[in-house]
Amino acid sequence: MAREKCVLAYSGGMDSTISTVWIQDNYNMDVVTLTVDLGAGPEIVGVKERAASAGAIDSLVWDVRDEFVNEYVFPGLKAGAMYEGVYALSTALGRPLMAKKLVEAARQVGATAVAHGCTGKGNDQVRFDAGIMTLAAHGEPLKIVAPAREWGMTRDEEKMYAAKAGLELREVGDDQRVYSIDRNLWGQAIEGEDLEDTWEAPPEDAFSWTRQISDTPDEPVEVAIGFEKGVPVSIDGTLKSGVELIAILNEIAGEHGVGRIDHVENRLVGIKSREVYETPAAVVLHSALKALETATMSREQQRVKENLSAIYSDMVYDGRWFTELRRNIAAFMESAHEYSTGDVRVRLHKGSCIVVGRRSPFSLYDFDLATYSTTDAFDHEAATGFIDIYSLSARTQSRKQTNSEAR
Ligand code: ARG
Repeated sequence: MAREKCVLAYSGGMDSTISTVWIQDNYNMDVVTLTVDLGAGPEIVGVKERAASAGAIDSLVWDVRDEFVNEYVFPGLKAGAMYEGVYALSTALGRPLMAKKLVEAARQVGATAVAHGCTGKGNDQVRFDAGIMTLAAHGEPLKIVAPAREWGMTRDEEKMYAAKAGLELREVGDDQRVYSIDRNLWGQAIEGEDLEDTWEAPPEDAFSWTRQISDTPDEPVEVAIGFEKGVPVSIDGTLKSGVELIAILNEIAGEHGVGRIDHVENRLVGIKSREVYETPAAVVLHSALKALETATMSREQQRVKENLSAIYSDMVYDGRWFTELRRNIAAFMESAHEYSTGDVRVRLHKGSCIVVGRRSPFSLYDFDLATYSTTDAFDHEAATGFIDIYSLSARTQSRKQTNSEAR
């Protein structure tokens, strides 16, 4: 009888290569690797070869960058999804799509299990497991294998598995630091090494997308971003696909040192962890869209949106992507952005991204109402009547209950 199959989420790195061997040995299953390209860049090169040398019977590489940007990143942007106000949720937005692709691949190759490389301490295991179980709830149940959560390997065992995969493990004590990095088009998350001391400033070698301030250009650069219904569609008047636009902004803003985040974060599993992120494009696009909203949304829309943003951000972080509530809030965001069409000018300089201009055919900013010149269209007479009624309840209460000017 043929062995059961397991589809493994495969980055091509050391851990996932070791996992390929480990699953064959410990679960007696054939392994099909699935590399989901979310725009992590050169890491994808050579994955098929590495998977084969680790004994995978097949290796799939799926480019899902457009789907990632259009169905996860941009909805997140429109929802103002920023965990704890600073983290653009790059990893957290990628996981549900990876879970979806794992389930799709499993169905395609007739696998009975899927596997991912998450440990038992992070958020990502929750996002994967919850996503997989939710999406697989309709059909045959899928087993979930998580080697790094299960194996408890010693260094010697790790070496043995690496050797089986035709790889050599780095020696401990090498002076080059090895961070734990997760990256996709929307940002990279950097953990480990010296960053585990919250008092230590992040060492320069932790960063690779953004320049340190002393190396950034002395002259600022201005970029105009065009939005249509809350979706960024152009840079300096030239139409771009979402994937292109994000790549370009990562480049330009990174060059000016924009997008470094240093945060002590509340993980879902109860741990606080020191997280360093590089998310240049996300920082620019979030500030730009927020600026556009100040012109195109009413005060009440802005307030309700902000409240829902906080809920939405926690849900994405907590692995609740595939839920009705997440979809409900997304529907509100879609509707709230009906008129978020226009341009925003940002100035990038020495690590800062400052909005210096915004315009929209639907802007609620009315010059004739707002101007300080004497020819304005605002009814000054009506203001006194308005305030009279507006302050009525406060005055009544003061008269009947307070009895004292001092209060
Ligand atoms: N803390 C972030 C999150 O939970 C990023 C985790 C990414 N993992 C890593 N190995 N750096 O979304």
